[in-house]
Amino acid sequence: MILCNSMTGDSLPVRRLRPAELVKSYDHIGIAAPMVRYSKLPFRMLAQEYGAHITHTPMILAQEFGLSATARDSDFTVRPDERGLFRAKGRRISCLSETARTRLEMMGEAVPGDAMVADADHLVQGCMVIQFAASEPVALADAAELVAGHVDAIDINCGCPQSWAYKECIGSYLLRQPDKVRNLIRGVKLRLGEDFPVHIKIRIDTDPQLTAQLMTTAVEAGAELITVHGRTRNQPSDSVPVNLSGIQHAVQVGRKLGVPVVANGDIFCLDDARRTLEQTGADAVMAARGLMSNPCLFAGYKSTPGHGINRFVELAVTTGFNTGLFHRTVAHMTVDGLPKSDALRMNAHPSIASLIEHVAKLYPVA
Ligand SMILES: Cc1cc2nc3c(=O)[nH]c(=O)nc-3n(C[C@H](O)[C@H](O)[C@H](O)COP(=O)(O)O)c2cc1C
Repeated sequence: MILCNSMTGDSLPVRRLRPAELVKSYDHIGIAAPMVRYSKLPFRMLAQEYGAHITHTPMILAQEFGLSATARDSDFTVRPDERGLFRAKGRRISCLSETARTRLEMMGEAVPGDAMVADADHLVQGCMVIQFAASEPVALADAAELVAGHVDAIDINCGCPQSWAYKECIGSYLLRQPDKVRNLIRGVKLRLGEDFPVHIKIRIDTDPQLTAQLMTTAVEAGAELITVHGRTRNQPSDSVPVNLSGIQHAVQVGRKLGVPVVANGDIFCLDDARRTLEQTGADAVMAARGLMSNPCLFAGYKSTPGHGINRFVELAVTTGFNTGLFHRTVAHMTVDGLPKSDALRMNAHPSIASLIEHVAKLYPVA
């Protein structure tokens, strides 16, 4: 399809791919993780503009989503234009969307060194994936049916380690229940068609054979992309480093099965992303906490630049965002770049208006 890019007037053909194809077709695809409370619409838009080619919604409970309009309204806000367009050639893809590139150029801001593909011959559209937590195939299929027209894939959470989730037979409970995972995937496929993309996000197991068994069953049922967080169910992210050889094992299993594997864990800058790709052989990387504190990391920024923070405020105000989450998200993304006194003030604002005023003073628009 040939589309005129209204921002630049360029006429480059636009490729729209499913996420698994995107990951297989280009090098250095960046993926924004599902994050409860954080990976909401304005955060996803910001992260995608700054190089997260694939974004995820937070984990949504399929059962509640299917049954309650209130749950749907609070959990799921999407925009057709939340996906970015990225310049590309061959296997190279830019890590700034066209929206971000033109905005930075208009502001006279330097674009990070290798963020762009100067000789691009086509544009690629980013993807957005919804993540569900489920234990019952019918509940998952019901929820999936409600969102199918708005998302590029459905991801099934097989990693949430919290005890309430385990008791509900969702999240990491599923890691040793391959039959249940197969039934969940089959439920979606039977309802939406074999072609509808379904992914799973797992953690590694202390017994690598069990990881291999889970992956094999999921792929046989139709899963076409697997994200592997390199920690076991009992390993907390803040005290146990990611196990890259555990991910590497899963990548080797994925190779045999012919399914792309995404590596997740401890990616806080581009060097971490490159090292993870090199050491695991994964097809792409996913970041969570790194993007919380710096949603622009995939574009090569070391901490959130002022134009990224201003853009988040603009997106949050124009798309509508829960007040408390707005505050927490801004506080997270500013904390690394600010002196302690300013970071503490950022946390203490009594209202959104005063927070926005503070942000405007700290990061004046050029
Ligand atoms: C605030 C927060 C919320 C999270 N919510 C989810 C979620 O909804 N679904 C999920 O699969 N993982 C969730 N995770 C786990 C991350 O997606 C990721 O697997 C984990 O943090 C390891 O990646 P990291 O080292 O880049 O943070 C969450 C993590 C954080 C920090």
